[in-house]
Amino acid sequence: MAREENQLVIAIYPGSFDPVTNGHLDLIRRGASIFDRLVVAVTLNPDKDALFPVKDRVEMLENVTEDLENVEVGVFGGLLMDYARSKGARAILRGIRAVSDYEYELQMAMMNRKIEPQIETVFMMPAEAYSYLSSRLVKELARLGGPVKGLVPPIVEERLRAKVS
Ligand code: PNS
Repeated sequence: MAREENQLVIAIYPGSFDPVTNGHLDLIRRGASIFDRLVVAVTLNPDKDALFPVKDRVEMLENVTEDLENVEVGVFGGLLMDYARSKGARAILRGIRAVSDYEYELQMAMMNRKIEPQIETVFMMPAEAYSYLSSRLVKELARLGGPVKGLVPPIVEERLRAKVS
């Protein structure tokens, strides 16, 4: 698809964000610096291990991205590619931390390309300091009373403390 001059490039950064970590935030900032508009999209698909309801995840994301003018937070159910089309997106942004992420991400990217060949998946790497960080580990740490300072934004730290206390 040829791109019209002056056409904005919109990207979707989809995920569970249960909860948003400093690794996600790092990727959001990187994405916001190269795309004209970045939609951080929380999946509505139920996850039996979810700690936060979608509404809380969205609230936390909105809070931590409020200084980023070209970032909006949304929710989507069903197929990611349907949502991406509805937003006029040209790209899906995903983070790759280590080689172990690659296989799953490749499968997803290829499947998404089959569904919608016009939308590219773009991979970015978070800062090295976050290469071991995941929402799953943060939740486990919080549940077991471990330190989450520096791993998640302060508002998420507070919400985690309230959830597990
Ligand atoms: O943060 P996560 O759990 O790694 O995010 C996974 C997510 C939400 C991006 C992925 O599960 C997804 O896109 N779900 C929507 C359903 C869909 O479109 N499935 C087909 C793609 S293979």
